[in-house]
Amino acid sequence: DDDDEEERSEKSETSDEDDGEGSDSSEEEEEKPPEEKPTEEPRLLREEARQKETDVKKDEDVREGTHKKEDCKPAVFIPVDRLPEIQEARLRLPILAEEQVIMEAVRENECVVLCGETGSGKTTQVPQFLYEAGYASSGGIIGVTEPRRVAAISMSHRVATEMNLPSGVVSYQIRYEGNVTENTKIKFMTDGVLLKEIQKDFLLQKYRVVIIDEAHERSVYTDILIGLLSRIVPLRNKKGLPMKLIIMSATLRVEDFTENKRLFRTPPPVIKVEARQFAVTVHFNKRTPVDNYTGEAFRGILVFLTGQAEVHSVCRRLRKAFPYRPHREHTGSVLCSQSLSQSLPRINLDSYSALPADEGDEDRQAGIDDDYNEGSDLELELGDHPDSDHGERLIFKNEKICSSYCSIQLVFRPPPAGARLCVIATNVAETSLTIPGVKYVVDCGRVKKRFYDRVTGVSSFKVTWISQASANQRAGRAGRTEPGHCYRLYSSAVFGDFSLFSEAEITRRPVDDLVLQMKDLNIEKVVNFPFPTPPSSEALISAEQLLISLGALEEPPRHGRARLSCPITPLGRAMAAFPVAPRYAKMLALGRQQGCMPYIITIVAAMTVREIFEDYDRPAGSEEESTKMAGKKARSVQMRRLWAGQGQSVQLGDLMVLLGAVGACEFAGCTHQFCEENGLRYKAMLEIRRLRGQLTNAVNAVCSDAGVYVDNQMAPPTESQVLCLRQIVLAGLGDHIARRVQAEELLDPKWRNGYKTPLLDDPVFIHPSSALHKTLPEFVVYQEIMETTKMYMRGVCAVQAEWIPKLLPQYCHFSAPEESPAPWFCPLSGRVKCHQQSTFYRVSWKLPAIEMD
Ligand code: CDP
Ligand code: MG
Repeated sequence: DDDDEEERSEKSETSDEDDGEGSDSSEEEEEKPPEEKPTEEPRLLREEARQKETDVKKDEDVREGTHKKEDCKPAVFIPVDRLPEIQEARLRLPILAEEQVIMEAVRENECVVLCGETGSGKTTQVPQFLYEAGYASSGGIIGVTEPRRVAAISMSHRVATEMNLPSGVVSYQIRYEGNVTENTKIKFMTDGVLLKEIQKDFLLQKYRVVIIDEAHERSVYTDILIGLLSRIVPLRNKKGLPMKLIIMSATLRVEDFTENKRLFRTPPPVIKVEARQFAVTVHFNKRTPVDNYTGEAFRGILVFLTGQAEVHSVCRRLRKAFPYRPHREHTGSVLCSQSLSQSLPRINLDSYSALPADEGDEDRQAGIDDDYNEGSDLELELGDHPDSDHGERLIFKNEKICSSYCSIQLVFRPPPAGARLCVIATNVAETSLTIPGVKYVVDCGRVKKRFYDRVTGVSSFKVTWISQASANQRAGRAGRTEPGHCYRLYSSAVFGDFSLFSEAEITRRPVDDLVLQMKDLNIEKVVNFPFPTPPSSEALISAEQLLISLGALEEPPRHGRARLSCPITPLGRAMAAFPVAPRYAKMLALGRQQGCMPYIITIVAAMTVREIFEDYDRPAGSEEESTKMAGKKARSVQMRRLWAGQGQSVQLGDLMVLLGAVGACEFAGCTHQFCEENGLRYKAMLEIRRLRGQLTNAVNAVCSDAGVYVDNQMAPPTESQVLCLRQIVLAGLGDHIARRVQAEELLDPKWRNGYKTPLLDDPVFIHPSSALHKTLPEFVVYQEIMETTKMYMRGVCAVQAEWIPKLLPQYCHFSAPEESPAPWFCPLSGRVKCHQQSTFYRVSWKLPAIEMD
């Protein structure tokens, strides 16, 4: 009868799509014969459908998707005792004028969209309105999600300060830390944290209100949360556990939320908060194009750049140009491009830095963080601040945020007399944080974004143009307290070519990890999920295919109509628990055998960090430097050969080198000196150490009996462990398999020493620096393909042909006997069984058939 229910829910939902208002027609619809609709409802809606059946007769209002006042109206008003100066500052915020309108809309609707200029007070005030109206008084709490960690932490502190409540009432939670207590009433968190909570309790029973903040950023988790909450909220209300959803957004285009019939059958009301905005004069650059925009940008006041390296370099230049001279009068200044340097004598940039600032992207590439943190680094430059003797330079980035949190408050205070505040920031200052008193904005017009190459599966960060909406948002930062100026380091013609809005993140990244997470939430028909902006069906299909081939989803029946609706397998559930990409998650899920787990954890950590070796091939500045580099390179080559080991371990290839390098480095205490002497990047090694710790915790949390203990130091794996590691790696990277083209198959000389992959038509090669460059094994798997002079495989590991039919039956074509081998994995014991198989098979891609006994 499960299926019946599913069909019912599917029909009533699709009928809504058809006529746009059909909540009344759902009962008649149920009498009609089931129709074959390409769109079916996710399984999570079964419960909704079940509820529908019992509730339809009860209450007409319920089906309207709205609630009448009496069932949600909080009974009490909770007074908050704020300090007078706080109260005064609050009263100046535009949102205060709308409090009544907002609270009435919240009372009368399940979902409200609140749209308001950045700085109007949405994030800091709305949770307080709700608190005062009693939404947190009867046990439930008010949850606020932020796409960025820095926002979750700093906003919780701000609200706590404003409300002047005992500590622990206003808290935050980000993935690895938080200060939530039993008394918490308002909880700020990253969107990833709430998603994980939905996995534990689908109805989110501890929340009375959920606020999705910064929805305009369209981070993937935000989008998914909105989709899920559009189902959870009505369910909760029907169960008599009322819940409210508030979607808050800075700029326009809320239509993706409000006019999306699959999300909300009754469009939620949109409340606009008008902020007082002064005129901003926009100055375009006349010379096109400015390539050296960081060179131009260093003249600015609030400067938008793309990443930490740029922020750092501009700060260095500012420090050079304006050395700190205390106790001089501020000359007052008008910003104009020629005399700019004379007009800024007060900036003190002599400073302390929390973090060596040249690479900010490693965590993000690692995919470990739940945070959507593109551009979440924020560097603040403060002049001559009373709290510090020499002024301070503060950098906030991921793990440093918490320890340096107190410092972030500095940016919200007025700079002392005679000093000028100069903020060099990435797009975090675009909407998440409002820095008061900014009069001049310098906009480089660019942003750092993650891009994904479908062929190689590699994602990388690239700098691209922003959208017109972003450019206007950045300009708007200059007009908050008085008329201001925005200097755009690009021409009006370039601006004209910008897209109107930024695309939702979900449309430009692979979705395999999301699909796995959603399947783990029992959303089987991912294609029907009410995404505010759905990813392309190709992206969904290729994600589902990868997950099927990894064994995370059940294979679809051969002739069934099931497409994009495969349920998750036990292995998939085990994989979903690890915060890494599915390929690596599979390795972790299979790692519990022969004591391999610490090695698998290390390999996954090292692969996610991507580049652990120093690059000595880069151009040298002088002859002296080039000789020095040649010496270092020779040493590095020698060390890599040593780390590759002997005998069996050589077959583990580049992954053995990773293990050897990490092992040796940790043995030496992971010092800067050791890295320097042996061609390792010190920062990468520290990062690996951190990731190993995190992954160990994750593994221990998933398998409570696993008792994995990862020591910093690590003995080399035994011969049989190496064999096992190679099989586990094959099982995880299976779709990245390559076979060397044999001499007799050589039709074209370009294939000499080349490898054929299922994905590409052209040959790929083993890089000269690889441990397997000389061996050229017949079958290998690789981590990724990097295109330089040729297409090179990175992270290569040799595998044995006879493992393939066992571990990757989907890549094989079995000629006899017909049936495919029995499932080979046992996710709980994580055992890979591997016998010699005595069937004939052919590898299914386009190479000439290989026959094996
Ligand atoms: O969310 P929205 O952009 O609408 O505004 P908000 O973040 O609630 O900020 C409202 C006001 O509080 C702004 O004027 C901020 O400058 C100020 N604020 C502050 O003074 N200190 C903080 N830590 C955070 C915000
Ligand atoms: Mg905000």
